[in-house]
Amino acid sequence: MKNILTPNIPTLQGNFDKNILLQIAKEYQTPIFAYDFDKIEEYYHQFKSAFSGRKTLICYALKANSNLSVVKKLASLESGADCVSLGEIKRAILAGIPPYKIIYSGVGKQEEEIKEAIKLGILFINIESKAELFKVESIAKSLNTKARISIRVNPDIDPQTHPYISTGLKENKFGIEIQEAKSLYLHAHKSEFLEPIGIHFHIGSQLTKLQPIYESAQKIAKLVHSLLALKIDIKFFDIGGGLGITYSDETTINPYDYAQSILECLRGLDLTIICEPGRFIIGNAGVFLVKVLYEKISQNKRFVIVDGAMNDLIRPSLYNAYHQIIPLTQSQGEKSPADIVGPICESGDYLGKNIELPPLKEGDVLAILSSGAYGFSMSSNYNTRPRCAEVAISQGKIKLIRKRETFEDLIALEKDLMGDF
Ligand code: LLP
Repeated sequence: MKNILTPNIPTLQGNFDKNILLQIAKEYQTPIFAYDFDKIEEYYHQFKSAFSGRKTLICYALKANSNLSVVKKLASLESGADCVSLGEIKRAILAGIPPYKIIYSGVGKQEEEIKEAIKLGILFINIESKAELFKVESIAKSLNTKARISIRVNPDIDPQTHPYISTGLKENKFGIEIQEAKSLYLHAHKSEFLEPIGIHFHIGSQLTKLQPIYESAQKIAKLVHSLLALKIDIKFFDIGGGLGITYSDETTINPYDYAQSILECLRGLDLTIICEPGRFIIGNAGVFLVKVLYEKISQNKRFVIVDGAMNDLIRPSLYNAYHQIIPLTQSQGEKSPADIVGPICESGDYLGKNIELPPLKEGDVLAILSSGAYGFSMSSNYNTRPRCAEVAISQGKIKLIRKRETFEDLIALEKDLMGDF
């Protein structure tokens, strides 16, 4: 098994045209997210072609970025969808992904959500606990139908990623341990209202090591053999998402090596592979643009205060994640380290720390790279800040795909309920 560097280290030049980004900042203002739709297509094809020759369904993980235009683009490439809420399922369908290509995951699915998902005829529900299996069974019974399910198995393997985004260890809340999973499969097999057709694992996100994925796939494939021996007809092998991308200079997993290691585990098994990539498809296809408001030196420390903040891109504050930050305007003068911070009233509100930057002036635009995944989708209205606009760049053309929120949008659900207490 190889584990080689993807040649895709994000650079501004490699991923985006500087003049287009400046035009976006000027026409649509900042802070703003811009996505290169040609790159989305390229990353999708890179992923898909790694599995060519095998029955595969790519189910794009909407949680990474669920903008309707992004999902519609993926629908046009024949992607399916991995959803974690009824809201995401509805987005996927609205954007043109057919229900039979939609899978539904997550530890806390609610009754109404499960009912609706079954009625919509999605491909299957990924079961995360024994209690949920019984819940799905009773809902299917009330609808007098058979619910297609898959069980998320927790392989208890360390994915070697950030603890907040590792999911495949027994101390994590996700999945069901192998022995219990087996008995739940037996129950589902005998049930009039359940049809177990898949098996699932997902050990974490931003994975850069292949070995833990390989070991998990081995364990799960072994379980499939024992289920098939019991005449439980598993058809789908859902390997989750998690493939890491390069934010700075990390060594990442090549999708081809990834596919080969999975195929090695599936030797002798005739299963359709389901993949749930999110970050790989959209992470490096997106950039976050912010504008410099002020510079200040405090106790010899340089701060660049910008108009984007942790409510727009929370990854640095939440995971101490690194994103490259590149000024779009030429500046003479020596570079010096600076913290790039936002207007939010928290010391944790930063987009970058100790970033070498040239002298900057008010109005200069900075590009924060690799922001396409878990950027807008994790944004909030903290400090009553409207969420950003989003634009698409496709074949060199710019198109607005989400309007900037207004103050009116932010208060719409409270305004008429304001009372005297
Ligand atoms: N499938 C399941 C069951 C998942 O839980 C996830 C991500 C994915 C697929 C997609 O994973 P991806 O290919 O994007 O790594 N907010 C964090 C990432 C959280 C990931 C949660 N689950 C971040 O900004 O790094």
